[in-house]
Amino acid sequence: MYQVYPRSFCDTTGNGVGDLDGLRTHLDHLVWLGVDAVWLSPICRSPMADFGYDVSAYDEVDPLFGTLDDLDALVAEAHAAGLRVLLDWVPNHTSIEHPWFAERPDFYVWVDGDPGTPPNRWIEAFGDGPAWAWDEGRGRWYLHLFLAEQPDLDWTNPAVVEAMHGTLRFWLDRGVDGFRMDVVHCIGKGHDLPELLPEQEAKPVVAIDVPHTHTLLQGIRRVLDEYGAGSVGEVYLLDTAKVATYYGTPEAPELHLSFNFPGLWAPWNAAVWRARIDEVEQHLTGPGRWPTWVLSNHDVPRHRTRYGSEARARAGAVLLATLRGTPFLFAGEELGLEDAVVPPERAVDPGGRDGCRAPLPWTPASGHGWAGGAEAWLPWPPDAAARSAGSQRADEGSILWFYKRLLAARRGSPALRSGAFTWLPSDPEVLAYERTSGSDRRVVLVNQGPAAAQVGLEGAWQVELATDGTSGPEALEVDAAVVLRPS
Ligand code: GLC
Repeated sequence: MYQVYPRSFCDTTGNGVGDLDGLRTHLDHLVWLGVDAVWLSPICRSPMADFGYDVSAYDEVDPLFGTLDDLDALVAEAHAAGLRVLLDWVPNHTSIEHPWFAERPDFYVWVDGDPGTPPNRWIEAFGDGPAWAWDEGRGRWYLHLFLAEQPDLDWTNPAVVEAMHGTLRFWLDRGVDGFRMDVVHCIGKGHDLPELLPEQEAKPVVAIDVPHTHTLLQGIRRVLDEYGAGSVGEVYLLDTAKVATYYGTPEAPELHLSFNFPGLWAPWNAAVWRARIDEVEQHLTGPGRWPTWVLSNHDVPRHRTRYGSEARARAGAVLLATLRGTPFLFAGEELGLEDAVVPPERAVDPGGRDGCRAPLPWTPASGHGWAGGAEAWLPWPPDAAARSAGSQRADEGSILWFYKRLLAARRGSPALRSGAFTWLPSDPEVLAYERTSGSDRRVVLVNQGPAAAQVGLEGAWQVELATDGTSGPEALEVDAAVVLRPS
């Protein structure tokens, strides 16, 4: 699965912001790379207080990105190219500019009280203010887990359930294949809010885990099943055992897939990774509980930046593509992009996440294949010319080709796609495992230790990446030990 952040993918209109046509005209890149599906961060109408995660109309494309016709054309071309399309669905909150906020106050979470004292000590996600805003006109508090411009919906109201199911059907009727569901684990919170945090700790409250959410997810799943559509939920609980419960049960299924972010937050350290993988092997097994892996997205610094070298970024990609589960790529990681350095005067995100959202360079020329005209909405990432897709396509040793070969190796191997996972004995700093399916067996070694430098591996290791038993191993230069070969 390949995540596109539409603002940053490619601009075809000259306003400095990427758009749907920018993605449509680069679908060949995704096909060449070898991904199966694309997830688009929000494209619905939005005042962009949180860059689309504040939706003011669930059934419109924001004019910044194009039109419904553009979306239809994109979906049709993607399908013709063999790619599935998932949209980002934002069910926990709307924009304060959504007409519901004025017309249907019963759709939101309100608490009576006095204007000087928020109902509890919950803190909003971006900042250190209360997760409550006082509405002068109504003389009540409303809840906002994120910005004050993002009031939380009240899913205990059946009218909200019905309206939100309608927003799914709108896009499913147009032929999209499914949804990434934004902070979907939060939707079941009720009115008895203080009971969620008895001690009323002063901290952001995204770690909400209440039984009613599971009932709601079963209802959402029934809508998806009518269409044969899929889901991946952003369950932002840093606890894999809890994440596993959001898949539901065979009798009462919930999400098809869920993000599991402990791996996203793991440092480049073999012991920590071993523990994260063990948790997944313990909790995400059995029918309907297929894991996911993600190293980068639009909310965190890119893993190339976090891990500190391209060699580690490549080794991380091997983990991503060979562990048991569905890998999620964030557009640009296949180019080995680092986060942009964003000077304070160009910072735009209230959550401080601009760096990883830098525009994608398509060509080495100035403007990097964007339409030109207005300056891109964020600065380019470092080495944009050399890192551009065009430059790297011309160099078979590039990280871009490395990703392509890695995805081809995965696609060509039943063991890597869906086989069992078993650890192999190894040095503590080497993650060594095998994946097996029938007679297909693949061994993966990923060296995460500083020993790599001491024994001269940095910069000079010959890495074998063989896609099958017949083609000879292909030598790639990276400075972490990664061996991916048939037994
Ligand atoms: C999710 C999104 C993030 C957004 C937040 C509020 O965490 O990934 O970008 O700001 O939800 O919608």
